[in-house]
Amino acid sequence: MSAKATNITWHEQTITKEERRAQNGHGSCVLWFTGLSGSGKSTIANAVSTELYRQSINEYVLDGDNVRHGLNKDLGFSDADRNENIRRIGEVAKLFVDSGKIVTTAFISPFQADRDQVRKLFEAGEFIEVFVDCPLEECEKRDPKQLYEKARRGEIKDFTGIDSPYEKPPQAEINIESGTQTVEEAVSTILQYLRNQKII
Ligand code: PPS
Repeated sequence: MSAKATNITWHEQTITKEERRAQNGHGSCVLWFTGLSGSGKSTIANAVSTELYRQSINEYVLDGDNVRHGLNKDLGFSDADRNENIRRIGEVAKLFVDSGKIVTTAFISPFQADRDQVRKLFEAGEFIEVFVDCPLEECEKRDPKQLYEKARRGEIKDFTGIDSPYEKPPQAEINIESGTQTVEEAVSTILQYLRNQKII
C-alpha cells in the first residue's frame, strides 16, 4: 500500500444536511442492523426499506453479501478484515445520512468496539443500533445458505457463532426477537421508533 495522503483539505458542501432533510420532509439516520448469519437482518432491513419507500421516504439498503461483491471484495472474515469492512460501511452510511436518506445496513458486525467506532461518526440520535436477536440454534436450523452446515464440517473457517465470536449489543436502541416476532411486527416496531424520534 502507498503512503497516506497529505495536503488534503476538507470542503464544506454548499447544501447542508439540514437543507436536504427539509427538502425531503423527513430526517435522516442509519438503522444499523446487527445479528448472526441467518437471524433475519437482510429480510427485516429490506422490509423496512420497502415500507419507507411506500411512504415516499428517501431510503437505501446496504447489505453484507452485496457490499462484499464490490466495495469490500478485497476483504475476508478475519477479525481485522471484519473491522475494516465495518469501518468502510460506517463511512458510506455517513454519506447517505449526510445526503438526507434513511439508510439501513445489514451486516453481522460482530464486534461491539467496531459498532461503537461507527456510532462515533454520527451526531446524537442518527445511529440507531437494531439488534436482530435470534438464538444460534434457530439460525443454524434455518441455515438458508447451508453455511452453518459447511462451517460445522470445517469447510468454512472463522464462521460467526461457530469458531468466530458474536458480541451481543448490551444497549441497542431497538431489540428484535426474530425467533418469535414476525417480520411485520419487527417493521412496525422500527417504524414506531422512527416516528417517536420524529425522524419520519
Ligand atoms: S461482518 O462480520 O459484518 O464483516 O460480515 P458481513 O459483511 O455481514 O458478511 C456476512 C455474510 O457473509 C457470508 N459469510 C460469512 N459470515 C460469517 N462468517 C463467515 N466466515 C462467513 N463467510 C461467508 C454470509 O452469507 C453472511 O451473510 P448473512 O446475511 O449474515 O447470512
